[in-house]
Amino acid sequence: MKFTGPLPLNHTDALRVIGQPVDRIDGRLKVTGQALYAADRHIPTGPPAHGYVLVSPVARGRLLAMDCTQALAAPGVLAIVTAGNANVPGHGRFNNSRLLAGPMIEHYHQAIGLVVATTLEQARHAAGLIRCQIEPDRVQADLHSHEGDWITPEKVPGGEAGDTSLGDFDAAFDQAPVRLDAWYSTPDQSPAMMEPHASIAHWQDGRVILRTSTQMVNWVKSDLARTLGIAEDRVEVTSPYVGGGFGSKTSLRADALLAVLGAQAAGCAVKVVLPRHLLFNNTQHRGATLQRVRIGADTAGRILAIGHESWSGDLHGKRPEAATLPTRALYSGAHRMTRTRLASLDLPECGPMRAPGEAPGLMALEVAMDELAERLDLDPVAVRLLNDTATDPEHPETPFSARHLAECFRLGAERFGWADRPGRPATRRQGDWWVGYGTAAAFRHNILIPSAARVRLITGGNLVVETDMTDIGTGTYTIMAQTAAEVMGLPLDRVTVLLGHSDFPVSCGSAGQFGANNSTAGVYAACVQLRQMIAQQIGVNSDDIGFADGEAVHGTRRYSLADIAARGELIAEDRIDYGAELSAMQQATFGAHFVEVGVHRVTGEIRVRRMLAVCDAGRILNPKTAASQICGSMVMGVGAALMEHLVPDTARGFFVNHDLAGYEFPVCADIPDQDVIFLGHDDAQSSPMKAKGVGELGLCGVAAAIANAVHNATGIRVREYPVTVDKLLPGLPPVA
Ligand code: MOS
Repeated sequence: MKFTGPLPLNHTDALRVIGQPVDRIDGRLKVTGQALYAADRHIPTGPPAHGYVLVSPVARGRLLAMDCTQALAAPGVLAIVTAGNANVPGHGRFNNSRLLAGPMIEHYHQAIGLVVATTLEQARHAAGLIRCQIEPDRVQADLHSHEGDWITPEKVPGGEAGDTSLGDFDAAFDQAPVRLDAWYSTPDQSPAMMEPHASIAHWQDGRVILRTSTQMVNWVKSDLARTLGIAEDRVEVTSPYVGGGFGSKTSLRADALLAVLGAQAAGCAVKVVLPRHLLFNNTQHRGATLQRVRIGADTAGRILAIGHESWSGDLHGKRPEAATLPTRALYSGAHRMTRTRLASLDLPECGPMRAPGEAPGLMALEVAMDELAERLDLDPVAVRLLNDTATDPEHPETPFSARHLAECFRLGAERFGWADRPGRPATRRQGDWWVGYGTAAAFRHNILIPSAARVRLITGGNLVVETDMTDIGTGTYTIMAQTAAEVMGLPLDRVTVLLGHSDFPVSCGSAGQFGANNSTAGVYAACVQLRQMIAQQIGVNSDDIGFADGEAVHGTRRYSLADIAARGELIAEDRIDYGAELSAMQQATFGAHFVEVGVHRVTGEIRVRRMLAVCDAGRILNPKTAASQICGSMVMGVGAALMEHLVPDTARGFFVNHDLAGYEFPVCADIPDQDVIFLGHDDAQSSPMKAKGVGELGLCGVAAAIANAVHNATGIRVREYPVTVDKLLPGLPPVA
């Protein structure tokens, strides 16, 4: 089905099942342990052997020799895989560095081998017996004092241009009566999801069968084939349950490739679970940024000129953090400029992580807006409303498909009690705590990606949905079932959803908050096909037929789907594709965050007391799972604001705090009061589902709202994240 704009006949509008806050259909399986995650999966040949990953102790250098003699003779050892004995001719499209290194070493904790043994303990013991001779090279790993070249990337991840401009920023900024010029920094961050990367692989009849934990089944399948130099039809990938990915599971990672190579070498199934302490340097992370925001405004607060520059680094100068993206589309202003610069750093590779681009970009932009409001003596909400825009500010001829940012702020301010905000910083104290309110806009693009699905009408008139889409804890199973139930007029419990198998039609996958809208639109397309097949079987026009209560209804006649299925299973498959005409509009999601914090007047300790997010993300397919998404993202925003910080050893090129004791992040229990409101306005341009992404929107802007609240509480403006006690102590108002 090609979607080119609002459909004349849309089978989702009844909102019988879609839009209902139904429980997760996989919830029971999860809480009873029946949902099997990658490392728990069973394989027909019995328990797998275990692989232990051997990693480089240096960031850069040359592996001169590897002595495996002792390790090979150790008890239980079945095989040792190294770059020297494995056949790895290719490279994945989504990998910046090699997943099995040697002789060149590209980053710290890069995998250089896998020991396969009968038990995990035997494999780990033998790994300790391998003697490596490594010649280390000098590293450059400091973004802030980078002396090498700055690369000007033509494009940022996602495909937009690296640099953009409209009008004459420099002149307009110089002449603006009110000017803000501020620098911000965000640190390296780790996805640190609950379930580490894990895989079980075995070979069967020349095919590799990989059970793994990934957000993108098709990307892993094609990149594994590419890396091994084999045809894609010799690769099977399954990933039915994923314990969080946060971007780190979008690409093929070392656990998967090494399990596959280990299985080949040992001639049996091999399981590889990446130990937690390796996750931080072996896999990908979000790169640190240095950002400069300049805003020129008139005395009434209208933006005349806005400029945002971002500097970040990556291994091999590959992937800039696209921090300027939100500034391109959020606020008005005739003269504009964004710039992206990139350094080549000898730190582990960067990758997409939790709303890449917008999340760190808004940490700067939305503090800058707060500073602008302060300078103008305007309310922070008012300055944002004043600079709202109905068209894409960089392309003023391009309207937004839907944009209700102002409504988010107005409704949020009312519900949160924004009017009660301390008018001046450091003026409200409750006991030992300074109290402050902060706000920030949320913004994240809505990306349209083709997505396919198959639906099968089986015995009893029940429906099976099949696609390689993943559920990374987001509720995908449930909204897929809701979509099929809605379009086919079936109760929810007559729909079975099967996900995460590479033999199923290729979906958009789970990333960039594009999963829900696109993958359900794929199910919609397949169901429309099925409706047509059923209509044909009955001998009527599909436009004249309705579906309700397990029946196809044509005029006064009703045909039970069970009877139709009894004549033979009906199988329909289709893909949602998007017409070029949709690019005449800019699609995005919007929101407003409100936060109240307390800052301890002696210790500087920060407590987030309550949070509210008001979200404009199109039709909400399931308010319960969507609200859970937003709540989880808001917690991640608290992490970005107050805690998360990978600390690089700039001399040696690695992240020092590579465990969950040193890399801290908050949990839900740290935030006592979280509230989410969805405006719920349909966006008929987004897909037949009229939905947009929600998950990452909930994170975008949160950290700035917190930093702004800390300023309102204490008068201290922290521009270097995370906002920690050491940055507050010197400036805390005197203790009376
Ligand atoms: Mo996301 S960071 O695109 O999984």
